[in-house]
Amino acid sequence: MKCIEICGTRLVVAERPVPKLKAEEVLVKVHAAGVNRPDILQRKGLYPPPPGASDIPGLEIAGEIVTGAGKGKKIVALVTGGGYAEYCAVPAKQCLPLPKNMDFTTAAGIPETYFTVWTNLFDRGHLKKGETILIHGGASGIGTTAIQIARAFGAKVIVTAGTDKKCRACKKLGAQVAINYKTKDFVAETMRATKKAGVDVVLDMVGGDYLPRNLMVLKAGGRHVSIAMQHGRTAELDIFQVMSKRLILTGSTLRPRSVADKAAIAKALHKAVWPLLNKGKLGPVVDKVFPLTAAQDAHEYLESAAQAGKVILKVV
Ligand SMILES: NC(=O)c1ccc[n+]([C@@H]2O[C@H](COP(=O)([O-])OP(=O)(O)OC[C@H]3O[C@@H](n4cnc5c(N)ncnc54)[C@H](OP(=O)(O)O)[C@@H]3O)[C@@H](O)[C@H]2O)c1
Repeated sequence: MKCIEICGTRLVVAERPVPKLKAEEVLVKVHAAGVNRPDILQRKGLYPPPPGASDIPGLEIAGEIVTGAGKGKKIVALVTGGGYAEYCAVPAKQCLPLPKNMDFTTAAGIPETYFTVWTNLFDRGHLKKGETILIHGGASGIGTTAIQIARAFGAKVIVTAGTDKKCRACKKLGAQVAINYKTKDFVAETMRATKKAGVDVVLDMVGGDYLPRNLMVLKAGGRHVSIAMQHGRTAELDIFQVMSKRLILTGSTLRPRSVADKAAIAKALHKAVWPLLNKGKLGPVVDKVFPLTAAQDAHEYLESAAQAGKVILKVV
């Protein structure tokens, strides 16, 4: 099969045998694969695949099952690696049906961000109807999904993004307030937008110096959910602020979690979010599609920060 390998810090087209299946896995003929920031980190040697995972990059796919009982089913799947290829071995429990009226290219942008957003907003952040969430990186793949899911479940949404154009795109998706973090101070703007009340949850992909600033905008009982650390993995925080506001600091990574954990998230998504996807009430925002063979260009595009939404590789 045709696939993409990492050679040094570049992506190259290669030929490999179709992957062998482990227990409880199905073989999927991949039609499209999503590109995510963690793939870039993996290419640069900063995010090695967990033990047992394919070294081919790619964490999400849309395609057709070609083996076993599910043969012929059109699906999307979260994978621990191996998505940038014509065929991918996937734990059956990490597959979900292709949403109605959605093509493979669009659907390939679902799994990584929907699994990540669902578990971080609700399992970790305990976001509730009527609460307010601050989402950093609102125009990212994660951000565009988080805006839609938070709004669909009744939260008020404030986002940050790096350009006015991206802020407008976030508002179109449902964010009530969008702050250009390059021209405005997000702490002051968030406090202004909430009439000094602050927010219940912060979904943070920046880390480092953002942590103490995020704590400033959290209300008493607020939850801080870390999903990335683009500004660094260490931060100084005011312990008394955590105590006096009874804050909860949490976070998660998705890729190394067990099949059972991912299956539980898949089940929750299927119940709560798939009906909305099937009705077209929400869906991935696809910014740009590249052919599989141009995977390196797709990475460079994502790294240029030009995108608002998902970057997809079309395989078939
Ligand atoms: N923990 C997990 O399970 C998990 C799973 C998947 C992804 N992630 C992480 O989530 C992040 C988003 O992933 P993605 O694939 O959606 O990537 P992406 O589309 O490339 O998004 C990266 C985003 O970070 C934003 N950003 C950078 N500096 C910022 C700042 N100072 N303030 C606010 N926003 C800032 C950028 O915003 P602008 O372009 O507007 O400047 C950009 O939208 C990545 O860091 C990724 O590693 C974590």
